[in-house]
Order: sequence, then structure tokens, then C-alpha cells
Amino acid sequence: MIKKLLLTAALVVLPLSAVHASDDMDSIDGKKIFQNNCAKCHAMDGTVSDYGKTLQPFPARNLRALAPYADKDEIRRVITHGTHDSDMRAMKYVLDGLEIEAVVDYISTFTYTPDLQNGATRFQQVCATCHGADGRAKTGVGAKNLVYSQLTLNEKVHTIRYGRPGTLMLAKHHQLNNTDIADIANYVQGLRRSGVATIGHNLYDNNCKSCHTTPASIKLVGNAATAKVITDLSDYMIDLRIRHGRHVRRAGEHIVKLTDDNIQDIIAYMRAEQ
Ligand code: HEC
Ligand code: HEC
Ligand code: HEC
Repeated sequence: MIKKLLLTAALVVLPLSAVHASDDMDSIDGKKIFQNNCAKCHAMDGTVSDYGKTLQPFPARNLRALAPYADKDEIRRVITHGTHDSDMRAMKYVLDGLEIEAVVDYISTFTYTPDLQNGATRFQQVCATCHGADGRAKTGVGAKNLVYSQLTLNEKVHTIRYGRPGTLMLAKHHQLNNTDIADIANYVQGLRRSGVATIGHNLYDNNCKSCHTTPASIKLVGNAATAKVITDLSDYMIDLRIRHGRHVRRAGEHIVKLTDDNIQDIIAYMRAEQ
């Protein structure tokens, strides 16, 4: 009897759901899902609600200041699995896969305008001890020179959030909120300086050409000799070989006076020539 009832029910329901299936896929409303399931903590606009600010040990996080800098996989992972020991619960028990996808898509539309002044202030407070007030990392602790960092803005945000395991660069996403992280990363991005090959060309002519007619003619010595061409070496290694050690005795003391930026330009010229 029960079986028969179920069968009848299924027969009645099936055609209806079949008709709507394709519409449903498109009409899942990410914004509505967000407002119903997330806004309590992340506020209607994706920032942080008053309630979200009070959560312990970790307050809710501003998703507007995260979305432009994180990839969808990262956002989807947190939503699906939640995070340990926080009120961010695994949403896979609440939402199905398509609903999670819709809310991820909705979050991805968030934009953020960085506050570079705050970025500069926070950088001095949190980063300068290791990376130097100017970002050039002359502090002797092995931090990277951020002025020459090749990382994209999003890679910088990722590094600040998760750190570099096994180094002094610790994860900061619980020490800093997302607006501070976005502000700092944008500020650091603005410190960037790339070598300028045309300037490097002049510097090369004035400081190197008398002994090395062209960059390609430079012969590597010692353990670097295994590199086929000089530009196989990293910027750091080329710099070491120009301004430190026995090359200084060959080339003359004036070589030491070249600035970091001079060397960066010379290397840019060398790479352009190769
Ligand atoms: C009960 C409060 C609460 C609700 C509801 C909630 N969250 Fe969260 N969410 C948090 C907290 C707290 C964190 C920070 C967790 C941490 O720091 O480990 C967080 C973190 C996140 C993060 C990671 C942000 C970052 O910077 O690491 C994402 C993405 C996120 N939530 C999305 C959502 C979405 C989407 C929903 C709804 C489907 C949702 N959250 C619902 C409290 C909540
Ligand atoms: C306690 C010292 C310390 C502090 C504080 C610190 N860092 Fe670092 N940072 C490091 C070290 C060491 C590395 C190099 C890690 C490695 O070897 O990969 C690094 C690497 C980085 C990199 C990667 C650069 C690249 O090109 O690979 C970025 C970006 C960065 N830090 C940004 C920051 C920012 C922004 C702050 C402040 C929010 C900060 N760091 C605070 C020590 C620190
Ligand atoms: C007065 C001559 C002289 C000048 C000027 C000079 N070099 Fe050299 N350099 C040498 C000699 C000689 C060597 C051969 C390696 C050795 O014996 O140490 C060398 C080697 C090198 C090496 C390879 C070092 C190694 O460890 O393998 C590099 C790189 C280099 N020079 C770059 C430069 C650059 C760039 C400049 C200009 C900024 C420059 N040199 C200016 C004489 C000079």
C-alpha cells in the first residue's frame, strides 16, 4: 500500500521536476543564499555584521576585501569545509553543490577599494621589522626584498595570509583582518620597482664594458660555471657575483658603490641581451 502511494506520488512529482530542472540550475540565486545563510555573520553586503565581530576566538571576516584577491577554489574550500575551531561551519551540510557554487559566484562579484594610507601604517607596524621601513629587507633576517618581488598582488595576499611554512614569514590571517591585508598588499605592490634595461645599458657601458665587451662574454667561475649562460642565475646570485667576493678585486672598488637599483637595471639589460 505504502509502496503504491509512493509510486503514485513519484509519478505526479517527476514530470513537474523534470520540466523545472534546467530552469532551476540557472535560477539558483547566490545573493539570496548569501543573505539567508551568511549575512548573520558576514552582513548583507559581505563585510562583517555586529554579531560577526563578537565571535570568538575568530571574528567573521570581510569577504569584500578578500574576494578580489583570492581564487574561487580557496573561497569554495572554506565555505564547503568551514574552518577549525571557529563559527565558520562546513556549509556542505546546509547547501548543496550548486548552491555553494552560486554563493561563490556571488562573492566573486564583490569589489574593494584599498586604503593605501592604512596599508602604509600597518606595514610599518607589522612588517617593517623584517622587511625594512622601505621594504628592501636590509634587516639581516632573510626576509625578501619586496621592492623586487615578482609576486602578483594575489600571490602577495596569499603569502601574507598563509605565510611560508618553515620560515620567519608566519601566517598573518588571524593577526590581521582582511581589509588590513588588502591595504598592506596593495601598498606593497605600489613599492615595486622593475629593472629598466635601457638605464642598465648605460650603466653597463660605463662600468663593465671595458672588461666584458658584452654580457654574453662574461665567464662564470667556481660552482656557478655549471650555468650555461649568466642569466640562468637568479638576480640574487648575479648580484652576489658582481658586488661581492673576488670580483670586486678584479673589477675595482667602484663596483661596490652601484646601488641595488643600478644592479637591478644592469641585470634587466643582461636578460634583455641574452
Ligand atoms: C555563524 C557565523 C557565520 C556564518 C553564518 C557564516 N560564516 Fe563565514 N566565517 C565566519 C567566521 C567566524 C569566519 C572566520 C573563520 C576563521 O578565521 O577561521 C568566517 C570565514 C569565512 C570565509 C573565509 C574568509 C577568510 O578571509 O579567510 C569565507 C569565504 C566565508 N566565511 C564565507 C561564508 C559564506 C559564503 C557563508 C554562508 C554560506 C558563511 N561564511 C556563513 C562566520 C560565519
Ligand atoms: C618575522 C619576520 C617577518 C615579518 C614580521 C614579515 N615577514 Fe614577510 N617574509 C619574511 C621572510 C623570512 C620571508 C622569506 C620567506 C622565504 O624564504 O620564502 C618573507 C617573505 C615575504 C613575501 C614573499 C616575497 C617573495 O617575493 O617571495 C611577502 C610578499 C612578504 N613576506 C610580505 C610580508 C608582509 C606584507 C608582512 C607584514 C604583514 C610581512 N611579510 C611580515 C619575514 C617576515
Ligand atoms: C676591470 C675589469 C672588470 C670590470 C670593470 C668588471 N669586471 Fe666582471 N669580471 C672581471 C674578471 C677579470 C672576471 C673573471 C672572473 C674572476 O676571475 O673572478 C669577471 C667576472 C665577472 C662575473 C662572473 C663572476 C663569477 O663569480 O662567476 C660577472 C657576473 C661579472 N664579472 C659581471 C660584471 C659586471 C655586471 C660588471 C659591471 C657592473 C663588471 N663585471 C665589471 C673583470 C671586470
